[in-house]
Amino acid sequence: MSAQTKAKRLTAADITARKGGEPIVSLTAYDAPTAALLDNHCDFLLVGDSVGMVVHGLPSTVGVTLDMMIMHGQAVMRGTQKAMVVIDMPFGSYEASPEQAFENASRVLQETGAQAIKIESGEYAAKTVAFLVARGIPVMGHVGLRPQAVNVTGGFKAKGRDPQEWASVLTEANATANAGVFAIVIEGVAEDLAKQITKSIDIPTIGIGASSVCDGQILVTQDMLGLFEWTPKFVKRYANMKTVISEAVKAYAAEVRGRRFPSAAEVYSLKPKLATKR
Ligand code: KIV
Repeated sequence: MSAQTKAKRLTAADITARKGGEPIVSLTAYDAPTAALLDNHCDFLLVGDSVGMVVHGLPSTVGVTLDMMIMHGQAVMRGTQKAMVVIDMPFGSYEASPEQAFENASRVLQETGAQAIKIESGEYAAKTVAFLVARGIPVMGHVGLRPQAVNVTGGFKAKGRDPQEWASVLTEANATANAGVFAIVIEGVAEDLAKQITKSIDIPTIGIGASSVCDGQILVTQDMLGLFEWTPKFVKRYANMKTVISEAVKAYAAEVRGRRFPSAAEVYSLKPKLATKR
């Protein structure tokens, strides 16, 4: 496809304009062939730092590095043409200062060609978000259950099931929205709180475990395809790829052991002319 006929990707402004309109569809992606399958169905793809857990086998997202995110971001960009691509800033790459965040976020955009980054946000990150946006970097926020804070919170726990927790999550969301993000992921919060947040900010909310009141939804692709063992309550499994893969590998192993694979259909023979000469 020439540069001129290339499909136009959705932009941060297109996503913001969908507030209160047609629900925004999103999934995570980490590699080119899978991203190509998702591209036609999703408005944006997130190269999430969940890659650390669902692809690299890490116990949490804390061990994910900037280089890992860039490598997976490049793969997803190569596999897609239409969806907007957003890349997670990993733990330790943006929290120290707005300058540190700009240095790393600009590297992510320059080296991958993706259109935006996402950070786990809140009041503590508001200055950083404003700094990045003022310098041309579209930022998606992420509030509620923040996986990078797992060592402080002690686990992946839903928020806002007790109304006493509402104020802190609402403050996180408002501070993030006011700092200039174009959309905000709300993860693992009670439906009533998600409703309150969605009503009180004028940018789209993208829910994951935050009910259908949000302006859009996102899931970790490996979770919804049944490729990852542990999944939270909010995941719906749309396929059981683990069983499909296990059955295929079992059949392959049995055929190799029984000398039924490869069969004549998978074997190269001599070219017909050469075969008759022998
Ligand atoms: O890393 C990730 O996959 C995410 C989603 C859960 C939103 O941040």
